[in-house]
Amino acid sequence: MKIEVESSRYPSLANPKMCVILTCGKTNAITLAWHTPISRKPPLYGVSVSPRRFSYGIIREEKEFALNFVSFDYWEMVHYCGTHSGKKEDKIAKANISLEGCKAIGTDSIAQAYAVLECTLYDEKKLGDHTLFVGEVKRAAVDNDLWDGRKLKGVKPVYQLGSYTYITTDSSSEIYP
Ligand SMILES: Cc1cc2nc3c(=O)[nH]c(=O)nc-3n(C[C@H](O)[C@H](O)[C@H](O)COP(=O)(O)O)c2cc1C
Repeated sequence: MKIEVESSRYPSLANPKMCVILTCGKTNAITLAWHTPISRKPPLYGVSVSPRRFSYGIIREEKEFALNFVSFDYWEMVHYCGTHSGKKEDKIAKANISLEGCKAIGTDSIAQAYAVLECTLYDEKKLGDHTLFVGEVKRAAVDNDLWDGRKLKGVKPVYQLGSYTYITTDSSSEIYP
């Protein structure tokens, strides 16, 4: 038997969703669970950001951002960047983020991330109470020892299960059909 869920709670039924940390400007960091690859040619990646976020204005102004994929070891970084606003504080130091310069865009990325997508703003569309920012991936980079040439290996990303509940993957559940 299924039970009804309030429509405002529906996103939780799509969980768990992988969390990424978007860096923008000089320099803010925001956790996002609503994000997706969109196209290979050109390489496009979409992020859904509420206009209430401090990062929203920075993305619109700077027209570029970096997406940082971090492992479960850094769940506290993910949680901090998702529960504090850059409007009120410099999150970078408080979240123990080490920055490093991007190569294709002007903003910084997170040195602890195992992968980064450096994006310029390709398009944006207001959809309901969020805006879908579409980034064109100008550079994608990954830690050498976590990449077998086609796919990631041994990565344990941070997934959001509920509002403030995080889980990760377990390699014992990998299958090779
Ligand atoms: C796990 C998690 C996922 C989140 N995903 C999103 C998201 O996809 N889009 C969004 O606009 N806010 C999302 N948030 C909320 C922002 O990360 C949060 O409001 C943050 O403090 C905004 O930072 P800023 O004001 O410095 O931009 C998420 C928060 C958490 C904890």
